[in-house]
Amino acid sequence: MSERNEQVPVQGNRANSARVYDYILGGKDHYEVDRVAAEASLRAWPGLRTSMLANRATMRRMAHWLAAEAGIRQFLDIGTGIPTEPNLHQVVQGQAPDARIVYVDNDPIVLAHADALMRSTPEGRTSYIQADMTEPGTLLTDPALSETLDLGRPVGLTVIAMLQFVKDAHGLIETLLRPLAPGSYLAITLATGDLAPESAALAREYTERGIPMYLRTRTEVEALFAGLDLVDPGVVPMTSWRPSDGAAPPENGTNMYAGVARKP
Ligand SMILES: C[S@@+](CC[C@H](N)C(=O)[O-])C[C@H]1O[C@@H](n2cnc3c(N)ncnc32)[C@H](O)[C@@H]1O
Repeated sequence: MSERNEQVPVQGNRANSARVYDYILGGKDHYEVDRVAAEASLRAWPGLRTSMLANRATMRRMAHWLAAEAGIRQFLDIGTGIPTEPNLHQVVQGQAPDARIVYVDNDPIVLAHADALMRSTPEGRTSYIQADMTEPGTLLTDPALSETLDLGRPVGLTVIAMLQFVKDAHGLIETLLRPLAPGSYLAITLATGDLAPESAALAREYTERGIPMYLRTRTEVEALFAGLDLVDPGVVPMTSWRPSDGAAPPENGTNMYAGVARKP
């Protein structure tokens, strides 16, 4: 546990997805219960660390593409995680210094680190909302959202490595997209059992430790983009989503799909 968070109380002595992720990515913000869950998860599926690193890289490629190619200047990032540089705002403000970003998470440790997420360029702006994504009405009416983003203009909605924790992913995406202007984009990555069937053991491990995890098929992931225009290459294993160096992507060893689509 980093010094900053020694005072943050662990809730219900249960593992938490932000802190398990932080431990596996080599961060400093986790409790014993998270480390035990992380080690058990790595035993259940040793590909987990590779997959998490590939997920962060995919988030950065998607954020870069949205800013550089799609011209998006406003972002709503659901389930931000404990900051791991470069964070989304650093990627997009590297392309467009005036970009504005709203981060949302429900973990108290992410809140304790919110200042790292608030280091915006002078031209842009970042803000942080502490909210539960399963109650989207709360985050959508938080004043920080309307003070930071102009919802009359397109927004990049990024929901990265989140939807495996949500039972009604379709309902959540629909609710979050509803207030966003035409020309907005949805970018997601999420866990599947299609690519690494052994990772089903990982989902069981997370679920048994109090973090219910739902694996989805490609067809189910494509259904989350209903009514939107999928950007090439569609829903693909995340390492195949616009790999930056043009090299053949390492398809094996990861367990997530990625996709980006435009709201017409
Ligand atoms: C696996 S991490 C993903 C972090 C980041 N999006 C990334 O891909 O690197 C999941 C994050 O979602 C947050 N989270 C989980 N359930 C949530 C909920 N119901 N509402 C808001 N945030 C949640 C956790 O606190 C954690 O920070």
